[in-house]
Amino acid sequence: MINQLQKISENDPLADAEQKQMIDGILDENRALPGATMVVLNELQNKIGFITESMQAYVADSLDVPVASIHGVVTFYSFFTTKPRGRHTIKFCNGTACYVGGTPQLIEKAKQALKIDVGDTTPDGQVTLEICRCVGACSQAPVVVVDEEVQGRVKPNKFPQILRKVQDQGN
Ligand code: FES
Repeated sequence: MINQLQKISENDPLADAEQKQMIDGILDENRALPGATMVVLNELQNKIGFITESMQAYVADSLDVPVASIHGVVTFYSFFTTKPRGRHTIKFCNGTACYVGGTPQLIEKAKQALKIDVGDTTPDGQVTLEICRCVGACSQAPVVVVDEEVQGRVKPNKFPQILRKVQDQGN
């Protein structure tokens, strides 16, 4: 059996009987479909909320596909995450126009304000910081996506305002 399956952490959904049952149900329901990998990963992301390394290994084993291809899909699409996201997600576009337009400065501002790194979630579970690829609003660079809302021409001094709005929304 694959390594990751031998060391499932106690917080992993696979270690929780109810969640494991849900994961098995998703695999059983979809394994025969064309493009089963994508369907299964989408379902797992939607229903469990994230796809850990162990879950990736479990899916690979169950669908009989290389774990590297599952890992490739999970890391390529920003929709997927290996850790639980916070209630709100702030994504920084790292496409060329946004990068040149100031994304690195915005990220710095966010890291200082929240005292977390990109890819992490604040300890209160409120905000997750992420990087995303070009969202097609390059003329508005630099772009930040707050939950699903695209906000353009965001200057570092405007960031605290965005943050306050997100934190005020709470749940
Ligand atoms: S590069 Fe950021 S929206 Fe295109």
